[in-house]
Amino acid sequence: MRRIWSDKCIVLGVTGSIAAYKACDLASRLVELGAEVVPVLTKSAREFVGAASFEAITGQRAITEMFEPVQNPAIEHIALATRASLFIIAPATANIIAKAAHGIADDWLSTTLLATRAPILFAPAMNSNMYSHPATIANIELLKSRGCHFVGPESGRLACKTIGPGRLIDVQAIIEAATPLVSGNHELAGKRVLITSGGTREPVDPVRFLGNRSSGRMGRALALAALARGAEVTVITGPAHVAPPYGARVVEVETAAEMAEAVAKHAPKADVVIAAAAVADYRVKAPSVQKRKRDGAPVTLDLIENPDILAALGKSRRKGRILVGFAAETERLLENARAKLQKKNLDLIVANQVSVADSGFEVDTVKGAILDRAGPNEEFPLCAKEEFAERLMERIVALANAESDSSGIGRANFVPGG
Ligand code: CTP
Repeated sequence: MRRIWSDKCIVLGVTGSIAAYKACDLASRLVELGAEVVPVLTKSAREFVGAASFEAITGQRAITEMFEPVQNPAIEHIALATRASLFIIAPATANIIAKAAHGIADDWLSTTLLATRAPILFAPAMNSNMYSHPATIANIELLKSRGCHFVGPESGRLACKTIGPGRLIDVQAIIEAATPLVSGNHELAGKRVLITSGGTREPVDPVRFLGNRSSGRMGRALALAALARGAEVTVITGPAHVAPPYGARVVEVETAAEMAEAVAKHAPKADVVIAAAAVADYRVKAPSVQKRKRDGAPVTLDLIENPDILAALGKSRRKGRILVGFAAETERLLENARAKLQKKNLDLIVANQVSVADSGFEVDTVKGAILDRAGPNEEFPLCAKEEFAERLMERIVALANAESDSSGIGRANFVPGG
């Protein structure tokens, strides 16, 4: 994420909503990611928050007036409209949306929105009736048809004491929605990436299950890396500690059988399948309908094998589809991983050393190696799962490009950095 945001110029337009204070958090997170954030506060935004907060957070002078003596030519509106990598309008009121839709330029922000050719992301926040008013709906549709982007709003309790759609979506989702827009990387544009993530739960009785310690962090990091390259991403996830990123289509499942069914449904259209889920190899043959009672006697659970989802995909490979697996190992890491690569007929496998501290389940870091069918193993030191996901995605893009070259179709959809 830092690599993507580093040194990018983000114009953060804040308009007059009670949610304006949340834009301080957004500004702070963007600065933390390495972006240069230029805050712009409309007149009504300043009724809710002060320019000084944004100036302290971003280290930039907040733009508040259209006709100030030009002290800094770099933030003059045409200069900034040209230099900005992205405009984020958060919170975006019905008013700024209407003005942008109809080309009204009556203050710094609306004028610069008209002048820029950078991507624009609106995060609306307003009363539910205003949001569902036909005028607002039509304005949003019009802006979308011209290539503007929207994130949120969420439904919930609003400042006006009503409950409904209109709440500013959380800051993390705004950043996730903005990431592909700011990345400028289209290596996977037009490609469908399917990711399995999280663990599975196999019922023992109505209240108990057999599960594992998968947190879903790796699946989430991979989805982010694919989205940042312009892919269409579907995440089939079992129960997990973290949610997939904004922008991914999410299919929630619980058991291995449900995951197998969901993969069978979504895999046929996928160009890349990454199996990051920790799927239970066995399930209880006959889960008890009623809660099992303790009676002092030893308990034996009769387990039967689950389908191997990834192996099934490897058996019925579609030409051009890239299959990537994970091998969670506690011993003979590379040997076991290579055996799985071959047995499941994969293009790449990640040998994941789960027996060392800080690598594997429930942690943010990972250590191991990436293996392919031909080349040398690419060992990687302990690193953040996000950093690792970037590395793996680069390998996937390289494979896809090699595939396109050898098939003679060309690289239409796999242009590095294109
Ligand atoms: N996998 C799968 N379906 C299963 C089991 C595993 O799709 N029923 C996938 C995992 O998502 C992972 C890869 O296969 O990408 C290897 O999973 P792993 O648990 O390491 O290996 P297993 O094949 O289950 O073998 P073992 O447990 O004996 O090590």
